[in-house]
Amino acid sequence: MHSAETSAPRPRRFIAAGPLTGRIRVPGDKSISHRSIMLGALAVGRTRVTGLLEGEDVMSTAAAMRAMGASIERLGGGEWVIDGVGVGGLLQPKQALDMGNSGTSTRLLMGLVASHPITATFIGDASLSKRPMGRVIEPLSQMGADFTAAPGGRLPLTLRGISPAVPISYRLPVASAQVKSAVLLAGLNTPGTTTVIEPVPTRDHSERMLKGFGADLRVEVAADGTRPIHLSGEAELRPQTIEVPGDPSSAAFFVVAALLVPGSDLVIENVGLNSTRAALLDVLRAMGGQIEEVDRREVGGEPVADLRVRHSALTGIEVDPAVVPSMVDEFPVLFVAAALAAGRTVTTGLEELRVKESDRIAVMRAALELAGATVSETEDGLIIDGTAGEPLQGTPEGAAVATHLDHRIAMSMAVAGLASRSGVEVDDTRPIATSFPVFEALLDQASSAA
Ligand code: S3P
Repeated sequence: MHSAETSAPRPRRFIAAGPLTGRIRVPGDKSISHRSIMLGALAVGRTRVTGLLEGEDVMSTAAAMRAMGASIERLGGGEWVIDGVGVGGLLQPKQALDMGNSGTSTRLLMGLVASHPITATFIGDASLSKRPMGRVIEPLSQMGADFTAAPGGRLPLTLRGISPAVPISYRLPVASAQVKSAVLLAGLNTPGTTTVIEPVPTRDHSERMLKGFGADLRVEVAADGTRPIHLSGEAELRPQTIEVPGDPSSAAFFVVAALLVPGSDLVIENVGLNSTRAALLDVLRAMGGQIEEVDRREVGGEPVADLRVRHSALTGIEVDPAVVPSMVDEFPVLFVAAALAAGRTVTTGLEELRVKESDRIAVMRAALELAGATVSETEDGLIIDGTAGEPLQGTPEGAAVATHLDHRIAMSMAVAGLASRSGVEVDDTRPIATSFPVFEALLDQASSAA
């Protein structure tokens, strides 16, 4: 089982510790890491991956793909090799697939299993077991898969896949890269053309990587601005050599920390800047953040740069809801930046945040209030009146921020602690290991590098 459920909570008080300076490198992108393992496991032959995120979520994906027949191994030097079973070749897992805390593993793997003639049970931790799976059950049922789920379409869930599945054309009712990817992955082993229509663009790593592995995938831009994505099955995937770029969602914590802590001048190397992921940087720049992109280049078919971030006076803004899909995971840390900006920041269109690892609207409101910020909650966002650079008070003696098994709440409030008078006590740092196991070590390193 996963560490957050078998060990005792690990609280920590994050306190102001001086400017963030020097150079750091954040671990590999979580979304790309999951997809490298899944597609590698479906290719015929050996895929090699460097820069893979070795966090608990990605390890859940690796364990599941092993349980369905792939061989996945870490070599010396941090290189991973994956020997795939071929599309259509997934084996019946002998035990329930433990997804831990990982929504991406669950939803994407449900897509893979749906078009194979196997049955799999998915289980997860308390956070994952509250999250809605109906959004993938619905299209995968249309393709012919059969489900038994806990009330509300939740885990534990048993999926009986079908082969051949039925190709569908599915218009996404929510802007979700996970739902898009689940249907496309199911389409790999489905004869005919599977189509997903995206009303607004979400992260496109699945499309890029499927093409890279040789799938017949075509993205259109329709006259009405929607994006129909067509995938022809049954696909044959060719093994690849993949270099995973640094995760912009992990870099985000250091970007905001360096903007907020006086005297900071930090370089974060090798950050993925795919435009479907990079909106946080635009929003922070519009608030006055000094963030420079140095040496823009391509890594693993994705745009990458080193980011130089300097302490900046920030001003509150109204965030355009159109940017939400391209920074959906970055709102918790944006709220922290807003809490120290001059004036008011208004966010709207964040309904999806309520069904992430925690209800990130309610949980961040409570967390920031406990740390002394002025915040009000609406149905679909937060309104934050910032301190104009004055540190937050910090959490009172004996009280701790409740992270609800949500890594991004823990890391965001750690950043708030750096910009506080008395520090911020976080109730449990264990969930950080799901996406960013070296976060605390890097934070300590950057704060003491001066
Ligand atoms: C992800 C998509 C996003 C994001 C998650 C990773 C992915 O979820 O929140 O952390 O890898 O496809 P949704 O697509 O459900 O918004």
